[in-house]
Amino acid sequence: MEQDITIKITDRDGVTHEVQAPTDMAMNLMEVVRSYELAPEGTIGICGGMAMCASCQCYVKSDHELPEMGDDEEAMLAEAFYVEDNSRLGCQIQMTPDLEGLEVELAPES
Ligand code: FES
Repeated sequence: MEQDITIKITDRDGVTHEVQAPTDMAMNLMEVVRSYELAPEGTIGICGGMAMCASCQCYVKSDHELPEMGDDEEAMLAEAFYVEDNSRLGCQIQMTPDLEGLEVELAPES
């Protein structure tokens, strides 16, 4: 269990959840949100994590250094609604030990 990190996820109702995420299971942030059922089924992860739906968009609140956006992610966010400067696609953020303490907020459903 030492591989787990603690992250804070604020759901679409504004409630913040502190959750543990494993870093050794190749999980991404969208999958963590789904595994804790922090967004209703069918409202997140619609494309299955292919950077093609933006249902997993979230705002990064902490100042963690995240991996750079890929072209697909950038293109998707260029078309999505409610995009802010700190928007990222949750499915493109892999859970790694250096994300300990990450804080994100789920973007509104679009
Ligand atoms: S799950 Fe579709 S873009 Fe992330």
